[in-house]
Amino acid sequence: MKKYRWGILAPGKMSVKFSRGLQLLENAEIYAVGSRDLQRAKKFADEFGCKKYYGSYEELASDPDVEVVYIASPHSCHREHTLLCLKNGKNVICEKAFAMNCNEVSQMISEAKKRKLFLMEALWPPFQPFYKKASEIINSGMLGKIYHLYGYFSFIPPFDPLDRKFNLSLGGSSLLDIGIYPVIDALTFMGVPADVKASAAFSPTGSEESVSAIFRYKDGRMAALYSSFNTNIGIGCEILCEKGNMTISRGRDMNQSVLLELHGREKQEFVFSPPAMGYHWEAEEVMKCLDDKRTESQVVPISFSINLIKTLDRIREEAVINFPGFN
Ligand SMILES: NC(=O)c1ccc[n+]([C@@H]2O[C@H](COP(=O)([O-])OP(=O)(O)OC[C@H]3O[C@@H](n4cnc5c(N)ncnc54)[C@H](OP(=O)(O)O)[C@@H]3O)[C@@H](O)[C@H]2O)c1
Repeated sequence: MKKYRWGILAPGKMSVKFSRGLQLLENAEIYAVGSRDLQRAKKFADEFGCKKYYGSYEELASDPDVEVVYIASPHSCHREHTLLCLKNGKNVICEKAFAMNCNEVSQMISEAKKRKLFLMEALWPPFQPFYKKASEIINSGMLGKIYHLYGYFSFIPPFDPLDRKFNLSLGGSSLLDIGIYPVIDALTFMGVPADVKASAAFSPTGSEESVSAIFRYKDGRMAALYSSFNTNIGIGCEILCEKGNMTISRGRDMNQSVLLELHGREKQEFVFSPPAMGYHWEAEEVMKCLDDKRTESQVVPISFSINLIKTLDRIREEAVINFPGFN
């Protein structure tokens, strides 16, 4: 079994969670970490037993022993950091949102293709057991035609103008941070919409803090999506179909469930409690692809990431959500 030497770029909150996942995998070594600050890199290296730690991302990317890099800087830096790693010959898994817009994502994909390197957006839902169950139910046809999907994600973080959730220069917006999940639900279960309508409300920094979108499909199906940093409804998705309804719930505590209500039948609930946050499944997929010499995942194909960023761009255009300096 080949063991892969991982590099962690930007040791913030998400890198800690992802690295805890890596620790569960026998074929992964958390080999190196790169931070803008050497002390932060050392602290992370001490916690995760990294052999190397660097006070810059450039040093991490140019370490010849790093084989694959996990990127968890703010969205606004994803393009730059992904290109840095690819140009240094590293395979990359980069956090969502993959980048700020389709133009940036296209540059990342072109670079990976040119260099024949692996690239994947770190999307959590497709790897989760509850999500696979929901897909299995929809694909089985037992619910018949989907008429409507209602997807939402909201919580109330403390307002901090410098935090990446509210700071425009870091891509601050509920849409790119959490609204991306209802969009993933709509794309996964219903596909790319024909028409998108959207409206947003803004925080004191000018960043979008709430957005509502309506997707319309050619055959009349619809999806209503909502994300916000000023209400607290959690995460969920309800799919209303010809022969019944399905409700997908995912708690922050990792309790996950799929409730199936077929018309005239008893409710059925499928409950899943994965042992960890489930990020290790993303890393496992990356290493499986590398083992197989594949540059793209079939679980999160590049085509899905393109549809996702294009749809996010359409919502932003409709709701007039702008990030000055990014185009
Ligand atoms: N998949 C998921 O479930 C999930 C969940 C949460 C977040 N995410 C994604 O993960 C990414 C990081 O989120 P996070 O919550 O980990 O953020 P975070 O705690 O703020 O960490 C981001 C890290 O990026 C680095 N960084 C580089 N340039 C920066 C800048 N100009 N300003 C601030 N930090 C900068 C910092 O590390 P150094 O300065 O030490 O280098 C910082 O610790 C985001 O894209 C987010 O969407 C994904």
